[in-house]
This record gives sequence, C-alpha cells and structure tokens, in this order.
Amino acid sequence: MSKFLKAGVVVAAVVGSAVIADIAESAEIAEGEKVFRKCAACHTVGEDAKSRVGPHLNDLFGRTAGTVDGFKYSAAMVAAGEGGLAWDEQSLTQFLVKPREVVSGTKMAFAGLRKSVDVANVLAYLKTFDADMAATVATDEAPEEASAAAETEETPAQPAELPSADHDGPMKLGRLATEDEIAAWDIDIRPDGLGLPPGRGTVAQGEPIYTDNCAVCHGDFGEGIGRWPVLAGGQDTLTNERPIKTVGSYWPYLSTVYDYIRRAMPFGNARSLTDDEVYALTAYVLYLNDIVDDEEFELSPDNFTEIGMPNEDNFIPDTRPAEEHYAEKTEPCMSDCKPGPVKITMRAQVLDVTPDGDEEGGGAID
Ligand code: HEC
Ligand code: HEC
Repeated sequence: MSKFLKAGVVVAAVVGSAVIADIAESAEIAEGEKVFRKCAACHTVGEDAKSRVGPHLNDLFGRTAGTVDGFKYSAAMVAAGEGGLAWDEQSLTQFLVKPREVVSGTKMAFAGLRKSVDVANVLAYLKTFDADMAATVATDEAPEEASAAAETEETPAQPAELPSADHDGPMKLGRLATEDEIAAWDIDIRPDGLGLPPGRGTVAQGEPIYTDNCAVCHGDFGEGIGRWPVLAGGQDTLTNERPIKTVGSYWPYLSTVYDYIRRAMPFGNARSLTDDEVYALTAYVLYLNDIVDDEEFELSPDNFTEIGMPNEDNFIPDTRPAEEHYAEKTEPCMSDCKPGPVKITMRAQVLDVTPDGDEEGGGAID
C-alpha cells in the first residue's frame, strides 16, 4: 500500500509540474485576452478577423510592418516596414509601450500599455492567433478551466428549446423571440429611471476604467483626442455660432449617458462592460463635467434620478399629441380650413440645380 502510494506521488509530481507550466501559460493568455479589450476597439483577431480602424492582428509575428492587404496604413508605418521593421517579440514590446516613439507619425491613436506584464500577456494572447507561434504555445494541452471560464461568460446559454416557426405571421417565417432574447435587446433606460439595472459605482472606481478603456479616444479629461468626441466642458457655448455640445453642456438626462455607454461604448467593443462599471463610468463622466465634485460619490438606482443635468430646462416636452388638431378624436381639416378668400403669395419654381448629364438619361443620376 505505502509503496503504491509513493509511486503515485512521484507520478503526480511529474505530471504536476507540466500542468503547472501549462496553467501559468493559459493564465497569461486569459489575462492577455482581457488586455486585448483595449485593442478590440480597433483590432480584431480570430477566424473572421477583418481590418477595421486598425489592421487585423492574425499571424502578426514575422509580419513586415504595414503590409496587411487592403488596409490603409499611415505613410509612416509603410516606411517603417520598408525600412526593415518586422513584428517580433522585441519590436512589438517596444511598439506597444510607446507606439509613437517606435513609429513616429503612426496613426494608431493609442497611448501605449503602461504595465510590462500587460504587454507580455497580450503578446501571449496574440500568439494563439499566429499559425507559426501557436505551435510554441501549449493551448491544446492547457487545462480548459481558464479559457472555458472566459468563454462561458461570452457565450449566451442556449435556451433548451427554441420556439418553433409555427406562429401565425402571413408568411409563416421566423419564430417568436425568446424571453432571454427580448431581455438582451430591451435595455433602454428612461429619464425617470425605468430600466436601470441593479448596481453601483463611484467616481474613484470609474477613473481607472475610463483611463483604460475610454481615454485613448475621449482624452484623459474628456477633451477628445483628435476628432473623437468631446465628453466634457462646453458649458455656456450653446448660443455661440459653434456650440460645443457635450454630455455636460447639452444632454438633458443622465439616463441617456448610462444607456449610451452601456449600449455603444467602448466604440468597437460595445456591451463589454458590466453594469457596475457603467455606473462608475457614468459617475466619472459627471465628475469630468463638474456635475459632481466628490470622488467618493456613488451612483446607483437609489440616487440616479436626483441628478439634474444643467441643460435639462432647455428641452421642452413634445405636447403635440395633446394639441387640438393632433388629438385623436379631432378629424383633420381637409377643406376650407382657412377662413376668408385665398390669396396666392408665392409660386413653386423649378430651380434646376441638377448638373447637366447625358440628355437621354434625363438627368445626371443613374
Ligand atoms: C484607437 C484605435 C487603436 C487601438 C486602441 C489600438 N490600435 Fe493598433 N493600430 C491602429 C491603427 C490605425 C494602426 C495602423 C497604424 C498606421 O498605419 O500607422 C495600428 C497598428 C498596429 C500594429 C501594426 C500592425 C501592422 O500590420 O503593421 C500592431 C502590432 C498593433 N496596432 C497592435 C495593437 C495592440 C496590441 C493594441 C492594444 C494593446 C492596439 N494596437 C490598440 C489602431 C489602434
Ligand atoms: C475607439 C474610440 C472610442 C473609445 C475607446 C470610446 N469611445 Fe466613446 N465615442 C466614440 C465615438 C466615435 C463616438 C460617437 C459615436 C457616434 O456619434 O455614433 C463616441 C461617443 C461617446 C459618447 C457620446 C458623446 C456625445 O456627446 O455624443 C459617450 C458618452 C462616450 N462615447 C463614452 C465613452 C466611454 C465611457 C468610453 C469607455 C468605456 C468610450 N466612450 C470609449 C469613440 C470611442
């Protein structure tokens, strides 16, 4: 018995160290996948990866900089590639820390990763999408737990049985949406707070989330980088010839801020934030706009509707349905609606602003 046990222990120890190495590796990859969320606003990887704001990042290792077919690189990136820059562990590490120092004039609007562990992890993740490098990464052997856990988060549970296509539409096409599908789609939030999910978040919690996920485009202070939208300031400019319309200067209701961030941001990676993160970010956007000034301010459904936006009073409710001629019961007037004789004040004119095209076509638009 004891002999058997010892042998068992030795085997376990040997297998154990291999497993530990694999676990470490798959943990790196799982962390790297999280870091990649910052890149996902602009880059894609994986099977159907396409170039978007930035080139796709499949098979990156060994790629000469600036050479993905069909992607419009900056002149600087193309020149760097022609000058011999190819992507490997070292050049990528330098580029991801300070993109503009490695390729001065690059159009990658990304400040760079601050932590070297983030760089190492994101590279481990990118290797799994590289045909040549994947062999060196033991993804197949790696225990499933880390990646499986990440996946279950993403993949919505399949409803056990989908409703069949036998509903009574005229075409008998499609099927009724399931409750889960409707719940996933029905996420709008009304100014009176209806639709707010449970959750909470403070200004202080929002700051690092904002810095990591939003500042690349909207700037550290919401000032907007390049031509990305400005999120703060602009108060007192609404009557100017060129008003600066921001969340703070223009938006009437806080519910729109929460709804918009949850629905659409970060740009290119929408719906990736938790409800708590959206509360924290909404609180932080309020802070950037000086609407709250306490970093410990916590936003939740309890105090949400107490926050008034500065421009709310300049929005007026649409009362037309209550006006007489819109009201349901009143028939619209169709004849002799204006008392007294009719006077013609103006006649319609043919302005003929369409540039001459080919005569037969009768116009320039095909
Ligand atoms: C705001 C959009 C944006 C974000 C965020 C972003 N990138 Fe980029 N990236 C670009 C653009 C645009 C280019 C093309 C640059 C050029 O042509 O100068 C690029 C180029 C690259 C290249 C060079 C690829 C090639 O084909 O030569 C690499 C590598 C890269 N990005 C990696 C990353 C990684 C990793 C992250 C996240 C840590 C990231 N990028 C975040 C927009 C972005
Ligand atoms: C890759 C760039 C990018 C990133 C990253 C990004 N945004 Fe945006 N954001 C945009 C663009 C583009 C728009 C305008 C979209 C439109 O008008 O269709 C926008 C619009 C907005 C607006 C509405 C502004 C207005 O006045 O219309 C808010 C609020 C906002 N973003 C918040 C955020 C938050 C919070 C984050 C981080 C979780 C974030 N964004 C990350 C690009 C980005």
